[in-house]
Amino acid sequence: MHLIKLNATDSTSDYLKGLVSSTHQPDFTVVFTNVQNKGRGQTNAKWISEPYKNLTFSFLKYFKDLDNSNQFLISIAVSLAIYDTLKALNVPNLTIKWPNDILSGISKIGGVLVENTISGQHVKYAIIGIGINVNQTKFPKEIKASSIALKLGQEVAVEPLRDRMIQNLKHYLEHPKKLKWQELYPQYEQLLFRKGSVSTFKTLDGTYISGIVTGVTEQGKLQLLLENDQNGEYSLRELKLVY
Ligand code: BTN
Repeated sequence: MHLIKLNATDSTSDYLKGLVSSTHQPDFTVVFTNVQNKGRGQTNAKWISEPYKNLTFSFLKYFKDLDNSNQFLISIAVSLAIYDTLKALNVPNLTIKWPNDILSGISKIGGVLVENTISGQHVKYAIIGIGINVNQTKFPKEIKASSIALKLGQEVAVEPLRDRMIQNLKHYLEHPKKLKWQELYPQYEQLLFRKGSVSTFKTLDGTYISGIVTGVTEQGKLQLLLENDQNGEYSLRELKLVY
């Protein structure tokens, strides 16, 4: 593994993106920092992380045969790798909130930002940014966030956690043959937050809909059984879970 450790940076994903666009970097190049000043989340959200408390890193993964239409498999594989790592620490009540938030109970303790570069019909490479709340104990009230330390009642060393997570990421991502929908999807689906329960969502036009989470399509859309017994499929930009 090629590890680049920065004292501080705006965003490990942006740093890695810049590096990859100007020089060849080996597969699984990792950019890690303890101080990320302008972390980015999904759908243009910010990812705010207290310096020296949390795990913030990005890594580069090349793909050979991953069809565009299967890109959601990357999210699934990464979510499962994070799940396995946190499960081994005994973090309680872990689930994956679609598409790839990691929850403990109802609080978010980790997030993933997958940014793919496409060439023709295939995913050429992905820059995958991971943020895990490790030892931070105070969060703004308006966000439902928590950390490993809050959940376990003790601090956890960040860098060994990073290295264990990278081992698990390699396990799921290193052998492209492992990226099979039939094999990974059942594991992901089993861990899906609120699967089988009625949830309320806010749509793009500000209206609210209720539905039962039934699964995720191969394209990564969330499937809902709506109140009128119709099935709906929604992309991340179209929907926000209220509860
Ligand atoms: C989300 O939940 O919205 C995704 C959060 C991803 C945050 C990580 S922290 C390391 C990497 N660098 C970034 O700027 N973002 C990701």
